[in-house]
Amino acid sequence: MGKPEELPDLHPSPRMNTVVTQMNRSARCRCCLWMVALWCAATVIFMLAGYDNVVHSVAVDRMVLRQGSQKYESWIATPVPVYYRVFVFNLTNPRQFMNGDRPRVKERGPYVYLMKESKEEIKFHSNGSVSYRTRPLYYFQPQMSIGSQDDVIWSVNIPFVNAADAVKDNGFLKMVIQIAKKIHGFDTLRQLTVGELLWGHKSRVMDWARTLQELPYPHQLFGLLVGFNDSVQEPYTMHTGKGNADMMNQILSWNGRQQLDFWSGDKCNEIRGTDANGFAPGVTKDNRLYIFNGQLCRAIPLVYNETVDQSGISAYRFVPPDDVFAYGSDHPENACYCSGGGCPPSGVLDMKPCYWGASIGFSFPHFYKADPKLRHLVHGLR
Ligand SMILES: *[C@@H]1O[C@H](CO)[C@@H](O)[C@H](O)[C@H]1NC(C)=O
Ligand SMILES: *[C@@H]1O[C@H](CO)[C@@H](O)[C@H](O)[C@H]1NC(C)=O
Ligand SMILES: *[C@@H]1O[C@H](CO)[C@@H](O)[C@H](O)[C@H]1NC(C)=O
Ligand SMILES: *[C@@H]1O[C@H](CO)[C@@H](O)[C@H](O)[C@H]1NC(C)=O
Repeated sequence: MGKPEELPDLHPSPRMNTVVTQMNRSARCRCCLWMVALWCAATVIFMLAGYDNVVHSVAVDRMVLRQGSQKYESWIATPVPVYYRVFVFNLTNPRQFMNGDRPRVKERGPYVYLMKESKEEIKFHSNGSVSYRTRPLYYFQPQMSIGSQDDVIWSVNIPFVNAADAVKDNGFLKMVIQIAKKIHGFDTLRQLTVGELLWGHKSRVMDWARTLQELPYPHQLFGLLVGFNDSVQEPYTMHTGKGNADMMNQILSWNGRQQLDFWSGDKCNEIRGTDANGFAPGVTKDNRLYIFNGQLCRAIPLVYNETVDQSGISAYRFVPPDDVFAYGSDHPENACYCSGGGCPPSGVLDMKPCYWGASIGFSFPHFYKADPKLRHLVHGLR
């Protein structure tokens, strides 16, 4: 503390000295000195503020998506690797389950995929928006995975269970399916490799159903991720931020629509938020951000969770709120995700309206934050 010898040697310029001595000559000029000092300080502050504004607007302007810009290059082909970690549940008591026991499952994985997404059919519009389609590519990463895509697991025969579920209230169709099950030997459970479960397998149930009627399901093979590898996805229109930085990266329309029609209320059908690759500048902890993804069939809110340090840069972590899939009187905003048949159990989003009527639900892993009764339906979930 206070070691004068360590202070840098300040050499006031001779010119400054003269000014000061001259000013010191009279009290009136001391007053001038103060005024000059104040004026200078005000100018500096003004200039700093101006500089800050200029830097800010240059930085924001740089973030606007434009053809040929640096941002454009990383936008059309994301340079950051994105890894998809897939876990599957193997039914380990198939025989007992068919006799009425509770299912017992064992989690397998992760099966890790590197996802590379490119953008195609890019069209910039004069109103500051851009249209594009994405083409994701998934590459299996054996060294990051526990297990191989050829691992065989027991799983529910999803197309058969769906067909049975769809006709459960129609006595005649129910009988048709029961007879077809006998004739064609459809099974409630199936042994499949992880690769088949995800990327597609031949389904005799679907082939049979196709002989009766046209199916809404657009793929020949059935699989949970069929149609997502190396095929162009539905088009998006996004605001680039040009002329309105607050709108940067906001999705304006998806698949030619500015509103969804899957859900029973306008709030749930809103297309809002960004594609999660970026947000408008000036995010604060109080913001409620939204991301939109056609695969999820809805916008997902994100709220501030914590401040984290990423290689020396302080960053805000935003996460979906715990009650994002909650229903009931405490969550009236989610009532429009319920259909005529009522609400699904809290913690699950019923994807039937947007997955061709299939009995598919989204939840946090292991029914985290969901209705506890769900976890008790299955043995082996933590
Ligand atoms: C799945 O469970 C069955 C027993 O039901 C077992 O034979 C099989 O090896 C398990 N698969 C994996 C990948 O653990
Ligand atoms: C901008 O123009 C495109 C193409 O004409 C249109 O799809 C989009 O909805 C427009 N966006 C706005 C915000 O008006
Ligand atoms: C996805 O498609 C690419 C290119 O067609 C192929 O190389 C890759 O193996 C596919 N990934 C999977 C998981 O099938
Ligand atoms: C952040 O997330 C963690 C993990 O879900 C949770 O335990 C914690 O309470 C959250 N903190 C805030 C401030 O939301």
